[in-house]
Amino acid sequence: MTALIILGWLAIEQCWAQGIEHFQPLGTPNRLEIIYPDDGPPSGDLIELGRVLFFDARLSGGQFDNKVACATCHNPDFAFTDGWPISDLAPNHPFPLARRDSPSLYNIAWKPDDRIIWRFSLNEAVLIPIGSYHMEMPMEDLISRLRKVQVYHREFARSFPDLGITSETLALALAAYLRSLVSDDSSFDRYLHGDSSALSREQIHGLKLFQGKARCVACHDGPNFTDYGFHDIGIGDSDKGRNRYGRHPGDESKFMTPTLRNIALTGPYMHNGSMGSLQEVIDHYDKGGTKTANLDELMQPLDLSLEEKRALAAFMGALTHNPAVQRPQIPE
Ligand code: HEC
Ligand code: HEC
Repeated sequence: MTALIILGWLAIEQCWAQGIEHFQPLGTPNRLEIIYPDDGPPSGDLIELGRVLFFDARLSGGQFDNKVACATCHNPDFAFTDGWPISDLAPNHPFPLARRDSPSLYNIAWKPDDRIIWRFSLNEAVLIPIGSYHMEMPMEDLISRLRKVQVYHREFARSFPDLGITSETLALALAAYLRSLVSDDSSFDRYLHGDSSALSREQIHGLKLFQGKARCVACHDGPNFTDYGFHDIGIGDSDKGRNRYGRHPGDESKFMTPTLRNIALTGPYMHNGSMGSLQEVIDHYDKGGTKTANLDELMQPLDLSLEEKRALAAFMGALTHNPAVQRPQIPE
């Protein structure tokens, strides 16, 4: 509690000093705030069904037939990213602008329900990769494929006695699993809950910089270190970001602020995987990004010393908590 009060005070004091006006205090995500769009929290059975489906390559077709699972690009070993700069497995696909780095799926339960894959609800979003160039599987083919697997037949009937296996119930199962991916017990969280030895002196210094001189908290705020807003931070490639489909002309090259939870596990970084290390990311912010047309006004040179850069990186290393690494058995 004391740590919370000190932290809150620090946040206010430091950010005032740097002219950051609006931000949510950092903290631990509150499970009671998760909004379940259906009838409250899903059953353990439904979460487990979603987990098995997430790891099952049966969900892929076309040139990836039976080879690609959700977990191929959202691998629990890397906090549900994949370790590659670009996650699309079809480099010759006619829509090259869609080639991006896969984001972590941890704590997606707190992401506003009109922001998943940029603008969908989670229940809609989980089906999109299946039919797209990610997995190339027509939904009707997938449903008949799943119906032939005894275990799925049984488990869908258990959770949905009236409906069985449909695209809707498939989405409910996958979304139930994704909402269960919670990361909330990192060293930083333990520090917030009163364990003052959970962070090193260097990490505490990094935390102060994060909220002060380096101004990271202006966009990476709240319990999940994101404002869920869109910003151009001067990456400067040809990806139009939020304006990819021409719907948001003012938002050219703006990307949604990603969570920094588990950030030590999710490199390479940025939508195009162009930065291999946290050091590179910090150097990018330190120089104020590259000058792009829409560059956020917060992107100014920071004048960080080598020691300060190291402290910031050390603090980000305190955000790791990756509980969900176990893989399920895929039914015959
Ligand atoms: C070939 C790689 C690949 C596969 C397979 C894949 N994804 Fe993704 N996923 C991505 C990429 C890349 C993005 C980011 C898309 C973007 O920002 O344009 C993404 C984004 C997402 C998001 C949005 C995250 C957010 O914060 O908005 C969700 C949810 C998601 N994927 C779930 C799934 C599910 C469920 C499956 C399996 C049915 C799956 N993905 C299969 C690469 C993949
Ligand atoms: C103006 C808002 C803003 C500020 C200030 C900001 N960030 Fe970011 N950050 C973003 C956005 C937006 C992205 C995603 C950009 C992309 O994908 O191209 C991002 C991406 C990142 C990533 C990569 C995440 C990933 O999963 O690839 C890291 C690490 C990061 N920021 C750390 C920091 C640190 C450290 C600071 C302070 C020095 C900081 N950010 C300041 C908005 C901001």
